[in-house]
Amino acid sequence: MHNGKARAFTNIALIKYWGKKDQQLILPMNNSLSLTLDAFYTETSVSFSKKYTADSFYLDGQLQDEKSTEKVRRFLDLVREQSQFFEYAIVQSQNFVPTAAGLASSASGLAALAGACNDALGLNLSDKELSRLARKGSGSACRSIYGGFVEWEKGDSDQNSYALPVPSNHWEDELAMIFILINDKAKDISSRNGMQRTVATSTYYTDWVKNVDIDIKKAREAITTHDFQALGEVTESNCLKMHATTLAASPPFTYWTPNSLKAMNKVHTMRQAGQDCYFTMDAGPNVKVLCQKKDSQKIYHELQKEFPAEQLVMAYAGKGMETLETE
Ligand code: DP6
Repeated sequence: MHNGKARAFTNIALIKYWGKKDQQLILPMNNSLSLTLDAFYTETSVSFSKKYTADSFYLDGQLQDEKSTEKVRRFLDLVREQSQFFEYAIVQSQNFVPTAAGLASSASGLAALAGACNDALGLNLSDKELSRLARKGSGSACRSIYGGFVEWEKGDSDQNSYALPVPSNHWEDELAMIFILINDKAKDISSRNGMQRTVATSTYYTDWVKNVDIDIKKAREAITTHDFQALGEVTESNCLKMHATTLAASPPFTYWTPNSLKAMNKVHTMRQAGQDCYFTMDAGPNVKVLCQKKDSQKIYHELQKEFPAEQLVMAYAGKGMETLETE
């Protein structure tokens, strides 16, 4: 029996990963830059054993069916191929999310699984190698290997596509992100399918790719100079550009719902009233508000005027993936 366990926190992209040039290896079309957060995380343990006759996956104590096990099984196959250790495994994952808001994250999940496999099989992978491995499970997972600000270098091969920390002199500790959990039933298009359709059909996609390098540069500069307004502006504008590509896809689609728009409008109104806050959104209806820690309570209370406390989650910068003691 070979056992390992790890914990990884989720990350939210300020400059988004949107589109792949290689579906199998998960090589992205563009660099992305994220902030790892402390509010949502996954703990995963894995046991490889000769005794097992198939892989099984338990999520929050529930045995998952074939379909939900698929991503995990494909990832285990990669690990087996890389390590030349051919045993089946039992994977047990626990998602720690403050509410049952469907915020289960593939970023924290696959980063924790990569860490647990590394631990179980004694692979001794460096952070860079772990990032490459996690990337092949889910692109955004390669950024959850590290805490704070992280940039995923797109690269052009399995070898050179991985994430690295962005030096910030601990500036991330002065920031906060407030999640507004939107319960509207959104169109169910996974990020994987959404980005694939966008790359294949969106007439705005080439402009997205052109612009994203400029946005990455602006974000890096803002992080170096600790310029919150500049980081907020580029975060919000990059998110809007990503979401614009989905409207120009065929068939067109959007992740926005009426309540997402209400949240985005609220952020704009607050900003006009002098509050320093900016939003971002991913492949779902939730809205995340980037602000400075010193303003976070005030902004949280202001948001509470529109959204009940159950829909709001305060998050601060989180740590990188870490291994845990197995029981
Ligand atoms: C919109 O990492 O979930 O959140 O690589 O297909 O597993 P796969 O996609 P995933 O995509 C995340 C897309 C995003 C932007 C981001 O996190 O950068």
